[in-house]
Amino acid sequence: MDLLDTTHRPPEGANPDWTIPQGFESYSKAEHDVWIALYDRQATILPGRACDAFLQGLHALDLHGEGIPDFERLNRRLCALTSWRIVAVPSLVPDDVFFDHLANRRFPAANFIRRADQLDYLQEPDIFHDVFGHVPLLTDPVFADYMQAYGQGGLRALKLGRLHNLARLYWYTVEFGLLETPAGLRIYGAGIVSSRSESIFALESASPHRIRFNLERVMRTPYRIDDFQQIYFVIPSLQDLLDATIKTDFGPLYAQLAGQADIAISGIEPGDVVLSRGSQAYAKGRVTQ
Ligand SMILES: [Fe+2]
Repeated sequence: MDLLDTTHRPPEGANPDWTIPQGFESYSKAEHDVWIALYDRQATILPGRACDAFLQGLHALDLHGEGIPDFERLNRRLCALTSWRIVAVPSLVPDDVFFDHLANRRFPAANFIRRADQLDYLQEPDIFHDVFGHVPLLTDPVFADYMQAYGQGGLRALKLGRLHNLARLYWYTVEFGLLETPAGLRIYGAGIVSSRSESIFALESASPHRIRFNLERVMRTPYRIDDFQQIYFVIPSLQDLLDATIKTDFGPLYAQLAGQADIAISGIEPGDVVLSRGSQAYAKGRVTQ
């Protein structure tokens, strides 16, 4: 589930908190087969690319390739590990509803799956992105606390009118974050880990910049939703990410950001710790096409 504005009334049949039944019994064989196809592709390429916490979470949740998971069964395992639960929602929910779920350790997930001819492309996050991409890391106690802290921070950012800054934090960590390990860079962001092509691009392409995570820097950097990222931010550990969030008073930080310009998406700043300077060749090629 991603941060998107929409109208403020739940659709007919949804609960006041926008939750809906998953409707597990209604999935067709073709829909389960799409899950299996997506799962099998990612299971092949993620060892050695995804971080250990993600792969361990995948294993702990038994999210194998037998079809779309039943949230009830999944929640029994997830809740026992970190007290998080998955709730089904329509594909888009208002920001405050999204943050309130996170702040209460509930992850809102879509219940629909993309069509078989859309394995590589989808406009809105579906159940494969939301569950395969996001839920394994929620079994990690540190990341589980980070997501809750993010939800709490989101409610505050809304009140202070700085949601665009905080949304960038979500984008460059929860969706597109990379992690530095002794064995090399690993993926932890759900947007990468649920995409075959970006799993390879994010780690192996010479095009994007890879820069050490810095909270203020991230919040000044716009992002693109239509293509591979031009810049990835790399955290030293999940604990560092949590610490950077809970040890920062976002009020003064937002006040400071209000007086600063955004940083160009392809730019390198003087204070950046650059792990690899990208050629930006991929992005430049797309512009001239
Ligand atoms: Fe997402």
